[in-house]
Amino acid sequence: MRARALWAVVAAAGGGERFGSDLPKQYQVLHGRSVLGWSLQAVRGAAPLQGLALVLAPGDEHWRALDEPALAGVIACRGGTTRQASVANGLAALGEAGAGTDDLVLVHDAARPCVRTADIRRLIERAGDSPDGGLLAAPVRDTLKRAAGEQVQATVPRGGLWQAFTPQLFPFDRLRRALAAAAEQPVTDEAEAMERAGARPRLVEGAVDNIKLTYASDLALAAAILAAREAGA
Ligand code: CTP
Ligand code: MG
Repeated sequence: MRARALWAVVAAAGGGERFGSDLPKQYQVLHGRSVLGWSLQAVRGAAPLQGLALVLAPGDEHWRALDEPALAGVIACRGGTTRQASVANGLAALGEAGAGTDDLVLVHDAARPCVRTADIRRLIERAGDSPDGGLLAAPVRDTLKRAAGEQVQATVPRGGLWQAFTPQLFPFDRLRRALAAAAEQPVTDEAEAMERAGARPRLVEGAVDNIKLTYASDLALAAAILAAREAGA
């Protein structure tokens, strides 16, 4: 039987509209390294990969200028107009590189540079054997309000509610088919596409400092997270 290989897709094809900078957020310098470099290092450091597809915006040449060891050997491919389409392109590139039915694929946002390698390892341990896959996530901590404009309508009970992060880990072929089937009804993460296909992915609790850089002010927060970690806090 063919061994179950692990592959990865890192989605870095976004334009960073909310971040609002000429230099896309994945190329910003964060605690001495590019945001993309941190994200790639975390994924590559978690487990040996058969291949990693780096999905880039059409015409993006920034990545070539990076002095970044974690870029070695990546399979660069073109992103789509949505994150979902970008991930689908990454999976197609991995398919061409030999990813097969029984293999597993980790999908990670380039914009999550603070993810801990240990959390990715735990995701692989806890969800790698499940046909339904899994994702890093954390229970919702704050009280949630449903609103109309700025006026509270109701408090939403937060029991059983989690925030979904990346990486997310799924059997390669099931994810590819689930994303293809979801092409007409957009999804915001891979797990949602899998859920539509009937899967019940496993939630693997990860550190809440796995923030997604969304606004420019998130950069200072991410730098503080990485600096504190380096200092052993
Ligand atoms: N992404 C992608 N392809 C797209 C859109 C997003 O690969 N067409 C990637 C981003 O590069 C990012 C991740 O998906 O690493 C999460 O997306 P998000 O935080 O929304 O980033 P952007 O789409 O770049 O930002 P915005 O929505 O503010 O424009
Ligand atoms: Mg976006």
